[in-house]
Amino acid sequence: MRKNIVAGNWKMNTTLPEGVKLAEEVNNALKTVEPKCDVIICVPFTHLFPVNNVIDTKKLGLGAENCADHRSGAYTGEVSAPMVASTGAQYVILGHSERRQYYGETAETLKEKVRLALDNNLTPIFCIGEVLEQRENGTYFDVVKAQIEDALFNLSAEDFSKLILAYEPVWAIGTGKTATDDQAQEIHAFIRKTIEDKYGKEVAENTSILYGGSCKPGNAKALFAKPDVDGGLIGGAALDAESFMGIVTAF
Ligand code: PGA
Repeated sequence: MRKNIVAGNWKMNTTLPEGVKLAEEVNNALKTVEPKCDVIICVPFTHLFPVNNVIDTKKLGLGAENCADHRSGAYTGEVSAPMVASTGAQYVILGHSERRQYYGETAETLKEKVRLALDNNLTPIFCIGEVLEQRENGTYFDVVKAQIEDALFNLSAEDFSKLILAYEPVWAIGTGKTATDDQAQEIHAFIRKTIEDKYGKEVAENTSILYGGSCKPGNAKALFAKPDVDGGLIGGAALDAESFMGIVTAF
């Protein structure tokens, strides 16, 4: 059966000392609770190795927020999937809407990133989601379907099974506007059906689909109660150990 997962996405926040402290706080909090989900923190590249040294990675997974679309070479300023893996990280967020929007990531570059992540035993947390206009004009089903098809449907069923998906409506990210639990369920069920049509029921049933976008301790319970919402990808609320744990314990 698919896993329930709560993953933090710190984005471009915290200095190294602040990040290590936050990771320690989450790690300590996990010593006193038995979470009913996998817990992951995705942190800036600079923080990966030091954070890996202060957490129990059996209880708290560690991920990067991106990786390069090349294995190595003359790509000044980029960080490759093998580099990320060598820090001890097990996960990598790919295709976040901020990467698509501000850094021009396309399905083609994302295909390469997914391939390289999988080749290096990193689990991609692959993000999809529509902008407000697409929500309002009703094209969001098509948009989300195309995002999955264009970047992921070249994968074998075996490789697709290694992914975690995160549905993040762009209009809900950092805005305080959450999709309602019914809106999340509607599109999560559609995403699962899209996967089923391509890879069959078993792969679809075993794929964890997280919701992201202003998920907070106050709304997590209702979202996670929906049958096709398997957890959350948490931005703002992951920057405070107490609020992050408030979401973890919503399961
Ligand atoms: P948010 O971000 O929780 O701050 O809305 C979620 C995300 O972008 O992953």
